[in-house]
Amino acid sequence: AETGCLSIIVLGASGDLAKKKTFPALFHLYCQGFLPPNEVHIFGYARTKISDDELRNRIRGYLLGERSSSPSEDVSEFLKLVKYVSGSYDSAEGFQLLDKEIAMHEISKSSQEVSCRRLFYLALPPSVYPSVCRMIRKYCMNKSDLGGWTRVVVEKPFGKDLDSAELLSSQIGELFDEPQIYRIDHYLGKELVQNLLVLRFANRFFLPLWNRDNIDNVQIVFREDFGTEGRGGYFDEYGIIRDIIQNHLLQVFCLVAMEKPVSLKPEHIRDEKVKVLQSVLPIKDEEVVLGQYEGYRDDPTVPDQSNTPTFATVILRIHNERWEGVPFILKAGKALNSRKAEIRVQFKDVPGDIFKCEKQGRNEFVIRLQPSEAMYMKLTVKQPGLEMSTVQSELDLSYKQRYQGVMIPEAYERLILDTIRCDQQHFVRRDELKAAWEIFTPLLHRIDNGEMKPTPYQQGSRGPTEADELSAKAGYVQTHGYIWALPPYR
Ligand code: BG6
Repeated sequence: AETGCLSIIVLGASGDLAKKKTFPALFHLYCQGFLPPNEVHIFGYARTKISDDELRNRIRGYLLGERSSSPSEDVSEFLKLVKYVSGSYDSAEGFQLLDKEIAMHEISKSSQEVSCRRLFYLALPPSVYPSVCRMIRKYCMNKSDLGGWTRVVVEKPFGKDLDSAELLSSQIGELFDEPQIYRIDHYLGKELVQNLLVLRFANRFFLPLWNRDNIDNVQIVFREDFGTEGRGGYFDEYGIIRDIIQNHLLQVFCLVAMEKPVSLKPEHIRDEKVKVLQSVLPIKDEEVVLGQYEGYRDDPTVPDQSNTPTFATVILRIHNERWEGVPFILKAGKALNSRKAEIRVQFKDVPGDIFKCEKQGRNEFVIRLQPSEAMYMKLTVKQPGLEMSTVQSELDLSYKQRYQGVMIPEAYERLILDTIRCDQQHFVRRDELKAAWEIFTPLLHRIDNGEMKPTPYQQGSRGPTEADELSAKAGYVQTHGYIWALPPYR
């Protein structure tokens, strides 16, 4: 592994993302020894004029999160590595000061000269990306003659449609080369999303089945049981398609649908993702259902007439040999009756069925991304007992039960570690982003222009009933009388 000093600069240090995700992820990496204190320094940068200690106090409460295994000394030791610099996002002054602070630390950490690594994490609204990138490029690049690097991490939303995303890409692209740019989609850091390639390509079980001959439909579903509380202003500008479907669910879609990459090299994997995105047919209006939960507009930061969907079901169809005719039903919603994200691969009926068990349901392979990571295969077995009757059951791999005591890392934790290790596999490449926007831009424009309107739905419901009707029309058969339950663990 590389050594030498490493400076991690979190821009937008006092914002929500930095507090809730970036700093806790850095802290957990620190606790696991990935950020050695003799090499690493962390800088927070934002406009607010506060002291180092004030920043530390603001983030302290978020560091432990749900994990209580790290003792409080770790927290104080970690916070000692954090410094704060204040400045605006477009002034030379602020970034010159930042550069000076970083350089001072680089000198202090190294008795003899070593290479210097600088990682800039933009936990900022994209409107300031171009100016911030310009400032970094001009004032804050690694200048060590002994090697090292400068990398920038950016967060979605990467634009609002194809044109704005392309503009943003070219603005950043003029300043940094693609290998220096890490576009985060945190779904790519989730354990079971990272497992998809292994599952699909390391198991003989799946290889012959994973196609239009055997699979009837695929659902990729994201549900949240809370609304846009506190983020209404941001959310209303974007809506559920830009917030969840165009990025998170589409990334999962790529991994489920793409062909086998030539190798595990990041470029090989990303080549395949681009290819499958380019094979997606234009979305048809009749294969879209939009919803908005009742009460969404009560948020004072949301306009009274807002046309923004908080729920959407969109069917994608892939025009290639493997998937022709198989609907991929992407569904996401806020303020629904449950919180979960899962992939549900539904197989076709058994031909010439002698058990007449269609009513009990089809074979399904379900990958539950969260909460409680699991994968299970729903299958029909003989009902144990004297009678010859059939029943739905499952082969179940529930992580909590199978991997007891194993800590599953947070998405942000792995992704930040990847940026330090120069691994772009789980980051979105520029052409991938473009292909993703190409799919959704026409639909988004129709919604933005008010040509398509969301149907109201009740908070805490399943969303608009039209969505279930659309899935059924596309071929999804709901299983009745069977509920998968999380197995108990000792
Ligand atoms: C974010 C969205 O990207 O992902 C949020 O902006 C959403 O609206 C969040 O709540 C969901 O992430 P996770 O990891 O909790 O599923």
